Amino acid sequence: MTQAKITVPAIRERKNGAKLKVVTAYDTPTARIADSAGADIILVGDTLAHVVLGYEDTLPATVDIMIHHTAAVARAKPNALVVADMPWLSYHISVEEAVRNAGRLIREGGADCVKLEGGRKRLPVVKAILEAEIPIMGHLGLTPQSIHAMGGYRVQGKRFEAARELLEDARALTGAGVFSLVLEGVPDVLAQVVTHEIAVPTIGIGAGRHCDGQVLVFHDVLGMHNDHLARFVRQYAHLADTATEALQHFFADIQSGAFPNESETYHTDEESARLLRDFIKNEE
Ligand code: KIV
Repeated sequence: MTQAKITVPAIRERKNGAKLKVVTAYDTPTARIADSAGADIILVGDTLAHVVLGYEDTLPATVDIMIHHTAAVARAKPNALVVADMPWLSYHISVEEAVRNAGRLIREGGADCVKLEGGRKRLPVVKAILEAEIPIMGHLGLTPQSIHAMGGYRVQGKRFEAARELLEDARALTGAGVFSLVLEGVPDVLAQVVTHEIAVPTIGIGAGRHCDGQVLVFHDVLGMHNDHLARFVRQYAHLADTATEALQHFFADIQSGAFPNESETYHTDEESARLLRDFIKNEE
């Protein structure tokens, strides 16, 4: 049975329904894998700057880079909703620029909607993008684009005052019309309160079990690297080790002559082969 494309209203209706299954993907094969595993949402996160492009953090991601990878994900034609992250500085300079950049992620990247970080500070931008008919997923808590302002990747909202500020941000974003909200790196009780208080689904990453859904980074959950993992990551496979072992096997076969074998080799007919060998001999 072919599955129907998952839409923004369908995600909104999942509040208090089955938990949302969300994972990042950055290219066509990873999007196909995520989609066939049953993802509701594929997030083309700016984490790609780190996990795919090798930078230290997410800040080097640009709109052009995000479009390049979002388009690769969109070409997989997933049933899952495709969310493109708005990278750092793409919505911080002016409202006009923010709307133009969000529009490029939709028009050139083929995303279904965008995600951006921040609360009340970003309301003018959020409202303008929504006015342009582009749905927005919000993102509060440990927002990686604020790494320098936060002084590192630190759990947010641990104290009552900070937690209350975050709750007000969540209410303001929801009031403006975001269709869902990522909560990253916050205590579980805060995520529980926000999830209870707002009318759209919350999607947690390092936010405990009370959110309406969970998201992890593709390369973390599948063990595609051997870097340090945050404590909230659960690794369900060790593909980097599997891939290294497979390539070691391949290289050993090259050296021993076991690769390629007969069935992996093209042949010509006997007569053409004989003529070619004779031709070489005559040349010598
Ligand atoms: O960029 C990203 O991948 C994200 C998720 C980790 C939520 O924002």
